[in-house]
Amino acid sequence: MITKKDEIDDLIDDRGPDIVTWGPKYATGIKLMDRQHEELVFLTNQLYHACLSGNEIAEKKFKDAMKRMVDYVHFHFGTEQQLLQKIGYPHYIEHKKMHDDLIRSILEAAKEFNEGRKFVPNHFVRTLKDWIFGHIGIEDKNYAEYVAEQKKKGRLTEEEINKIVTIAEPPADSAPAKTTSKQ
Ligand SMILES: [Fe+2]
Ligand SMILES: [Fe+2]
Repeated sequence: MITKKDEIDDLIDDRGPDIVTWGPKYATGIKLMDRQHEELVFLTNQLYHACLSGNEIAEKKFKDAMKRMVDYVHFHFGTEQQLLQKIGYPHYIEHKKMHDDLIRSILEAAKEFNEGRKFVPNHFVRTLKDWIFGHIGIEDKNYAEYVAEQKKKGRLTEEEINKIVTIAEPPADSAPAKTTSKQ
């Protein structure tokens, strides 16, 4: 796991149920993508518990956790686009546009949240969760089907997928890694 779990978790009092749970409805069957999606589950839950805790220090950490999550979404979309482009996914352009729209919406919402204009933290995290996991549960499942078909036809292997994607995991607290190809 790439995130400094303990540092933030130590500050969080709330130990109630998570807002999102990893499960088959999000699984693409592509190890690299599933690992990144699982990281998004972790980051979303961390953000959720930070906003519920009411702990003053945790609240100070909330914006950091939010930035970390937005950065990771950005990084993940970059990796995914690189993969979809290189395997010739027929709906790459549309998928990339959905990512672009999602990032724009998230950044606008984050700006409104930061300016205290629109969201209370709880609603903000729920909105983020619905956007991101709605996309994973529906749109990412579509490319997963395509990849599964390609694997079945012997045109693609998990090993090839890992070779195709050349992005390194970004270290915690840093900007997302740069992709090595045009997206
Ligand atoms: Fe994804
Ligand atoms: Fe996606």
